[in-house]
Amino acid sequence: MNTEHVPLLAIDGPSGSGKGTVSQIIARRLGWHYLDSGALYRVLALAAENHTLALDDAESLETLAEHLDVEFALGKDGQTVILLEGEPVTEQIRSEIVGNAASIVAALPGVRAALLARQRAFREMPGLVADGRDMGSTVFPDAPLKIFLTASAEARAERRYKQLKEKGMSVNLAPLLEDIERRDLRDSQRGASPMIAAEDAILLDTTELDIEAVVAKILELCQQRFDYEETPLSQDL
Ligand code: DC
Repeated sequence: MNTEHVPLLAIDGPSGSGKGTVSQIIARRLGWHYLDSGALYRVLALAAENHTLALDDAESLETLAEHLDVEFALGKDGQTVILLEGEPVTEQIRSEIVGNAASIVAALPGVRAALLARQRAFREMPGLVADGRDMGSTVFPDAPLKIFLTASAEARAERRYKQLKEKGMSVNLAPLLEDIERRDLRDSQRGASPMIAAEDAILLDTTELDIEAVVAKILELCQQRFDYEETPLSQDL
């Protein structure tokens, strides 16, 4: 099916750039669908662990990716619930361990190819906000608007530190920073579809910006690029 006419906003960037939060708010404001491509790699990593597959077993991981039984469902509270083989894994896939494993399996070209069609299937009317590392460069190269969010590694580590503290976890900043730097390196240096700003992407450095400022800036760009009607703000935004 040809979906090139479906409006698409690609938001790429490293972990902690705020792209997940920003993308979800924008999808709600525009009333568009939302693709969390990182969640797909995270679910795959968790499935690999459940099936006791080694993270360097490329062939088995590719087969697993082809047949991955994952569903993004709408929960009672309006939040997305992610199901792996029918079981909710929304929280579980957010751990640092799963995030690191996701970054390892995501480096396998066969795995990326196997997940391509699944990601493209999210492109439906009235529009899609696609969040990831290679949305603008590889998955949706024809996206009319591509944003690449960046922030210093220190700022991103601090954001993660605050998030974990708020969840009542005891954490240290230094290992979080190391982890972010290690993951950035792996995600940007892999041969297959590395994290890279598409040539026609607009770079937005969020180091000094809060979420509202980033959302406002991107919405302004959307208004210039797309003809859309804004959905009224709900309380929780
Ligand atoms: O955005 P995230 O932290 O949930 O992503 C988890 C990992 O998945 C990340 O380290 C790299 C990988 N990823 C990817 O390679 N391509 C994407 N489009 C999204 C995520």
